Amino acid sequence: MNLVVGEKVERVKTGIPGFDDLIQGGIPKGFNVLLVGQPGTGKTIFGMQYLVNGALAGENGIYVSLDSPNEIVKSQAKQFGWDVDTLEKEGKLSFLKIPLDKPKINLFDILEEEIKAAKAQRLVFDSLADFAINIDQFVIPLAYSALPSIASEDEQRAAQNDKTYRYEVMPTLGQDPQGRVFYRGHSERRISYLVVNEMQKFGTTNLLITDESIGGQHLTVDGVSEYVSDGVVMFEFNDTGGEILRTAKVIKMRNTKIDPKMRSFDFSEKGISLEQ
Ligand SMILES: Nc1ncnc2c1ncn2[C@@H]1O[C@H](COP(=O)(O)OP(=O)(O)O)[C@@H](O)[C@H]1O
Ligand SMILES: [Mg+2]
Repeated sequence: MNLVVGEKVERVKTGIPGFDDLIQGGIPKGFNVLLVGQPGTGKTIFGMQYLVNGALAGENGIYVSLDSPNEIVKSQAKQFGWDVDTLEKEGKLSFLKIPLDKPKINLFDILEEEIKAAKAQRLVFDSLADFAINIDQFVIPLAYSALPSIASEDEQRAAQNDKTYRYEVMPTLGQDPQGRVFYRGHSERRISYLVVNEMQKFGTTNLLITDESIGGQHLTVDGVSEYVSDGVVMFEFNDTGGEILRTAKVIKMRNTKIDPKMRSFDFSEKGISLEQ
């Protein structure tokens, strides 16, 4: 985070009509902002619009997807007339599908490389929930491991003594050596903490998509990302006596006076625009 107390906060405009006004003109540069909501509430399109607007304004962006192939993500954008193929050819927009069929994926090394190559300033990560579900495919820093005691003595020593030591394969998430799974909840929390923490190091301004927890006591499925992220935007379907409205509201944005009122929105042929 490049924030100095007392100085003016540098803000990144999403360019999504009606949204930047809710957060004093934009997202503070370098922030991690969660987009939380159930499927179909508009998170992917919001994220794409943020990147397209950035690309058109001279800030390169990357859409990182764990689940959907690039062509599907792009086809969603093309419905709104966003010429993502041209922006991609011009190097202003990149699409990165993380292949989940290969084990031992070094996600943060891949992202760091891509961000450098693309000179990206904006990033959308879709999604934290998919990352947690596929956790066994990734290698993660040992310090975040759910069960560091399973690591060999050598590995533990390396992690303690060598500050540059970053990655070790994580044991199967949430299972102790007997295969019992009672550590699972604890592990998932650490996983989201890890992603938010690692993402902060890139200097990009990130939208992290995740799923809303249904009927739980927390907002997100992992129950922790809303605390560790810098901002949270909630997407919902709201039943206003017969009519179902899509709504968005900012419930958290550090260093920012927010307008927390829920805004309804619709998809026009140009994408999302929030009602005043
Ligand atoms: N061109 C469009 N016009 C109207 N609604 C659309 C259009 N494109 C997508 N939608 C709506 O947006 C939903 C998908 O939005 P999306 O951003 O993919 O949601 P999420 O990522 O939250 O699952 C679709 O289910 C559909 O209802
Ligand atoms: Mg989506």
